[in-house]
Amino acid sequence: MTPQPTETREPAAILSTRERGTWSVTAPTILTPSKRSSDNAAAGTVKTLFDRPRWIEPCHLYDERGSLLFEELCELPEYYPTRTEAAILERESGTLMNLAPVECIVELGAGFSKKTIHLLKALTRARGRGTFAPVDVSATALMASKRMAEELFPELAFTGLEARFEDAITSITRDIPKLVVFLGSTIGNFAPTDMLHFFTHLCDHMGPDDYLLLGVDRIKDPEIIERAYDDSRGVTAAFILNAFSNVNRITGAGFQPDKISYRSGYNRERQQVEMYGVSTETHRVEFPRHSASFTWEKDEGILVETSRKFDPDDLQVQLRCFGLENLGHWTDSNEWFSLLLFRRSAPSGGLESR
Ligand code: AVJ
Repeated sequence: MTPQPTETREPAAILSTRERGTWSVTAPTILTPSKRSSDNAAAGTVKTLFDRPRWIEPCHLYDERGSLLFEELCELPEYYPTRTEAAILERESGTLMNLAPVECIVELGAGFSKKTIHLLKALTRARGRGTFAPVDVSATALMASKRMAEELFPELAFTGLEARFEDAITSITRDIPKLVVFLGSTIGNFAPTDMLHFFTHLCDHMGPDDYLLLGVDRIKDPEIIERAYDDSRGVTAAFILNAFSNVNRITGAGFQPDKISYRSGYNRERQQVEMYGVSTETHRVEFPRHSASFTWEKDEGILVETSRKFDPDDLQVQLRCFGLENLGHWTDSNEWFSLLLFRRSAPSGGLESR
């Protein structure tokens, strides 16, 4: 087999030399931590299911079926975030890549990287070469991303990281100036304290010439938001409830799909959508591998995902405290969605000021 030009450029170059040895190759140009934090995925999942209220980590939404359902959901007429964000990206990618003069794009939670095409176009137009490194827990999504990148951007080096955000952030090199891209308002899926931990960890590992592009869904009329997360075709319901089948696979649990229904609602105080699987009749759920079971009461919800909405001005104040200096803010005519660009700078009052 003749090696592809992209594969002669060392895919592991995106990882720090110290961490490189802890990753292995799962497919050409796709790497995964040899000892990932999810080696304990089963135990981790049982932990959250025996917590009160019971919950499931949102990364478990993205097995193969979940990743495909998510792509379908992004096209729904009710689900405005994807197309709104894509339009802003299409309009502003050139400006963005001028403000962030890097050759490397790392995308967290990349999915199929459809919206990223706008940024990659601007990158190749401005620099003529570069690196694209999507990070995702879903192998299905990474393969789709890889196919897209190899077809549309053969001049870019590709490295897919099949990993949780934390593992990828720990291992990515500080030596290559990069734009870290985190789109789709995925930060809205973090619980508030997890979001603060995420930014602490990310900023600890960002180099001095790194940039961050954040896409966030904004606070708006709750009716518009509620419709986006409870579509008439039931794709969102199928996407959320698929998490229970994935949990069955990961843990050997006995969740019964025919006894679970979908419920969602906008919590105005917390400014977030909350998405649950609800038991339609009281029954026991068995975890034979863990010698455990619980009674799932009728109408009791298990929280599968929250999707927080943001005030971009408040978010900028918060992120400034992490040493992220805002370089630009773009929105749509309805002000439904915002793209925010930051540069890593010394936290104000920090020791790094020269
Ligand atoms: C993963 C953040 C893009 O919160 O809007 C969509 C996931 N869940 N519909 C979101 C989701 C239900 C989504 N993101």
